Amino acid sequence: MPDRLIDLRSDTVTLPTPAMRRAMAEAEVGDDVFGEDPTVNRLEEMAAERMGKEAALLVTSGTQGNLVGVLSHTRRGDEVILGDQSHIYHYEVGGCAVIGGLQLHPLPNIDGMIDPAEIEAAIRPENIHHPRTGLVCIENTHNRNSGAVLDRSQISAICQVAHNHGIPVHLDGARIFNAAVALGVDVRTLTEPVDSVTFCLSKGLSAPVGSVLCGSREYIATARKYRKMLGGGMRQAGIIAAAGIVALTTMVDRLAEDHENAALLAQGLAELPGIALDPAKVRTNIVIFGVTAPIGAAGLVRALKERGILCNATAPDRIRMVTHYGIERTDIETTLRAARDILAGVMISAR
Ligand SMILES: Cc1ncc(COP(=O)(O)O)c(C=O)c1O
Repeated sequence: MPDRLIDLRSDTVTLPTPAMRRAMAEAEVGDDVFGEDPTVNRLEEMAAERMGKEAALLVTSGTQGNLVGVLSHTRRGDEVILGDQSHIYHYEVGGCAVIGGLQLHPLPNIDGMIDPAEIEAAIRPENIHHPRTGLVCIENTHNRNSGAVLDRSQISAICQVAHNHGIPVHLDGARIFNAAVALGVDVRTLTEPVDSVTFCLSKGLSAPVGSVLCGSREYIATARKYRKMLGGGMRQAGIIAAAGIVALTTMVDRLAEDHENAALLAQGLAELPGIALDPAKVRTNIVIFGVTAPIGAAGLVRALKERGILCNATAPDRIRMVTHYGIERTDIETTLRAARDILAGVMISAR
């Protein structure tokens, strides 16, 4: 295997920048559970301002942000409407059910969207037999839908339905800055209609740890208690927040580079035999493609790994690759050359 790995498994593998490491070393800190960490307080103010919300809360991860976010909107026995391909539904260990006592009501996700008419139909009318519909969750960009982007009109359409029934909307915006950069809009355009948003400082923004939950002052006060309950009350967390501040101030605009690399990767892969991919679906930094070649997804992942390229099979016939800070255009070219060689060999031997 080559010395240098090209790691396309996820944007969670990004390493902190030198500026982040310096900021962490020099961070002014205090006890954040007492509200006395000046660096955490500064990050939370910045994040709230950036998202156009009154207040913000630093949490340990996107998963904790979503769980605290959902708990703070709901009560036990409520039903939560969300996408059937959403991260909360698939990858958060059933936390809403286990810890929140919540019932999840999944609706079809198509290109990241949930049809507002289906949400309208899924909202429970008052009836002694029904759970109360307590929340609608959306995701932008959409992880399992190839990093699909929801624009303002789509978000507003969903929020309008929910709000007409007095139901709040939580946005899992782990990669909301990718959406804003792809659309060329201020991130507030996408967060203004929702009641709460979680975004990740790790992933594309490259901070080592942390996500932020944003919402009204009252909502964040509730969330602060839930975070403590879940063991997320950190002490001198300014060490983490310092990297988050660097992430927010220096790492957002460069996401465009990741999107260009993903587009290049998608176009190149689409031309290969044994790959099924519509490059027009790739709007941000996530490339998901079908493997129709006899090698299968696991075989192709293995063969790429032997050439120093890491990616994940997400199904027996599907692979996911993610571009991020640390992946250069030349890495994409290397990946495409390797995939072409492997698949050419496989297709010849299958004849
Ligand atoms: C859309 C989405 N939401 C939430 C998360 C959870 O973030 P974390 O891994 O920090 O818990 C992820 C992680 O990949 C994600 O893709």
